[in-house]
Amino acid sequence: MRKPLVIANWKMQLAPLESEALARAVAEEVATVADAVEVVLCPSFTSLGVVSAALAGTAIALGAQDVFPAPHGALTGMVGFDELRALGVSHILVGHSERRQVLAETDEEIAKKFHGAIAAGFVPVLCVGETAKEKAGGEREAVLARELGILADLAGDTRTAIVIAYEPVWAIGTGVSCTPEEAAEVHRWIRKTVTQHVSEDCVCVLYGGSVDEKNAAAFATQEAIDGVLVGGASLRKESFLAIAAAFARAK
Ligand code: PGA
Repeated sequence: MRKPLVIANWKMQLAPLESEALARAVAEEVATVADAVEVVLCPSFTSLGVVSAALAGTAIALGAQDVFPAPHGALTGMVGFDELRALGVSHILVGHSERRQVLAETDEEIAKKFHGAIAAGFVPVLCVGETAKEKAGGEREAVLARELGILADLAGDTRTAIVIAYEPVWAIGTGVSCTPEEAAEVHRWIRKTVTQHVSEDCVCVLYGGSVDEKNAAAFATQEAIDGVLVGGASLRKESFLAIAAAFARAK
């Protein structure tokens, strides 16, 4: 049985002092579920330093929301792998739909981040998902197949640990989540697709999109759902801990 993975994506919602306080509060109380669940917090770049210090010596891991796919260099405004490593980052979100849509990030750029992260020793969390229009047009599988197509370049490196987050775009920040049954069906399809490239026990498939303390248990009890990527509900200690506890109980 894979250990469930619960990731907080704080986006650009918290200033460093707020991030630090929330990280400390979560770390203090998460101990009761930490044996049963892997927890990762992804603050903004400017908060990584203080959150890293707040999490030192705890069981919680640190994630970054993005990266420029190079170790370091003369590139104004970017953050590369060396800096993230020095801050104790272990996971990196890549291909979040907000970046695909608002910043027009392409599959090619996402592929560089994904493979660069693996080569640099990080666990990439590849976000995939269809828009409402694509879903209505029956294009979900085609969209997911295209977004997961970057895995083909793993070229036989079947022992690489990767995380795929299925995040239907229409469910992100809307309060309308995918039903757990529908998400589980998509997860089974994703797992089947992904395990053509990576061995079964190296893949973790998360659901993301309006997960909260009320619906978390229903996602957690689905065998095909290995964890969740949480936006809005991760900004409050109570709701985030309740989500982590739901996964600790169910798995
Ligand atoms: P949400 O965001 O939980 O606020 O819907 C999820 C995400 O964007 O990862």
